[in-house]
Amino acid sequence: MHVSCGSKITKLTITSFIAEQCMTSISTQVQVSLGDRSYPIFIGSGELKRTDLNAFVGGQKVLVVTNKTIAPLYLDQIEQQLAGKQVDRVILDDGEKYKNLDTLNLIFDQLIANHHDRKTTLVALGGGVIGDMTGFAAACYQRGVPFIQIPTTLLAQVDSSVGGKTAVNHAMGKNMIGAFYQPQAVVIDTDTLTTLPDREFAAGLAEVIKYGLIIDSDFFVWLENNIGSLLGRDSQTLAYAIELSCKNKARIVAEDETEQGIRAILNLGHTFGHAIETFQHYQQWLHGEAVAAGMVMAAQLSAIAGILPQAEVTRLIQLLQTCSLPVAPPRDMRPDDFLRLMVRDKKVLDGQLRLVLLQGIGHAQVTDQFSMDHLNQALDLACQSG
Ligand code: NAD
Ligand code: GLY
Repeated sequence: MHVSCGSKITKLTITSFIAEQCMTSISTQVQVSLGDRSYPIFIGSGELKRTDLNAFVGGQKVLVVTNKTIAPLYLDQIEQQLAGKQVDRVILDDGEKYKNLDTLNLIFDQLIANHHDRKTTLVALGGGVIGDMTGFAAACYQRGVPFIQIPTTLLAQVDSSVGGKTAVNHAMGKNMIGAFYQPQAVVIDTDTLTTLPDREFAAGLAEVIKYGLIIDSDFFVWLENNIGSLLGRDSQTLAYAIELSCKNKARIVAEDETEQGIRAILNLGHTFGHAIETFQHYQQWLHGEAVAAGMVMAAQLSAIAGILPQAEVTRLIQLLQTCSLPVAPPRDMRPDDFLRLMVRDKKVLDGQLRLVLLQGIGHAQVTDQFSMDHLNQALDLACQSG
């Protein structure tokens, strides 16, 4: 049974009454409203058993895309849920460094070799790497086939599986080749997080904290007050944090599906973070770790620009540190490395770099109106503290 508390929420401001209602839900559904591309996000403990995946599969064939770490943990369960269909599988190498066109071709090889036609459905079983690649493969295969997201990392559950951004990396830039392409459904089983390593779990918390920072100050306060039980992976606390994150994201995506404006605030800290990931050839820090340091850099720039009180930067740093997340860039990165890599950011328009800045916790803006002097000061400060 799905118990939706979405209808009770008319604003992103969450009262404690509503929080209490949601905390008692067994299972929650959040809707991403995009006209004929709308879809549900099912969230809860035991959701993989509860959700009828076949309801989202139009044809007779399915290709499950996963990796060598996740397959032994969850693939059997997914295949059982798809009983009655021809289920093929492709099990990829694990890691961000495999999120590229060569790996994408392995998915196409399976689809073509097994005669999948336009009625096939792809199922992404894994974290953001699997989700982004599977979504992009679905967008391209025979000019577009349906796909389902089954995210198994916290980061994928609160961010990458929702909103239809799909991509692979290029050696010169993160997520440079991709498409906006929405799934049929997102199925989030919080039980899958029990097998997630601590470091990956913390990386996901960076994106959870991001929602509080950019759009939902009440959620930020809730996170400050509940970070202990979140880190303890309490099932109900987790489900609530995931639900709030998905609601915030769904609302932004419904307003601006293809990032013509407001959606860019979801990239708070990402311009700095992507520079870190590219600098490290996607092989050292996790995406969420790079975003954590990037969010601090964006906050520090906002403070230097005089639009964010320093006390709010301190609150952010404290919350991230409680999660054992980095709050400064890697020691071997210099301001020039950032400047060189940031010009390739996807928010650059007509050669002009745009950044997401904070005007307060819960209030973000995308702007190209920042001074290079302030940016240089922020980079110097961050690289000194790294
Ligand atoms: P990931 O997909 O690499 O997963 C992290 C690690 O956890 C991997 O080793 C994976 O095999 C393992 N894993 C996954 N689920 C597990 C489980 N339940 N138990 C044990 N191990 C498990 O990384 P991620 O953090 O999920 O995603 C990062 C990617 O997401 C990046 O490529 C980033 O660019 C992308 N991303 C995309 C969007 C978007 O909007 N599309 C948003 C944010 C991030
Ligand atoms: N993760 C950024 C976005 O979905 O727009």
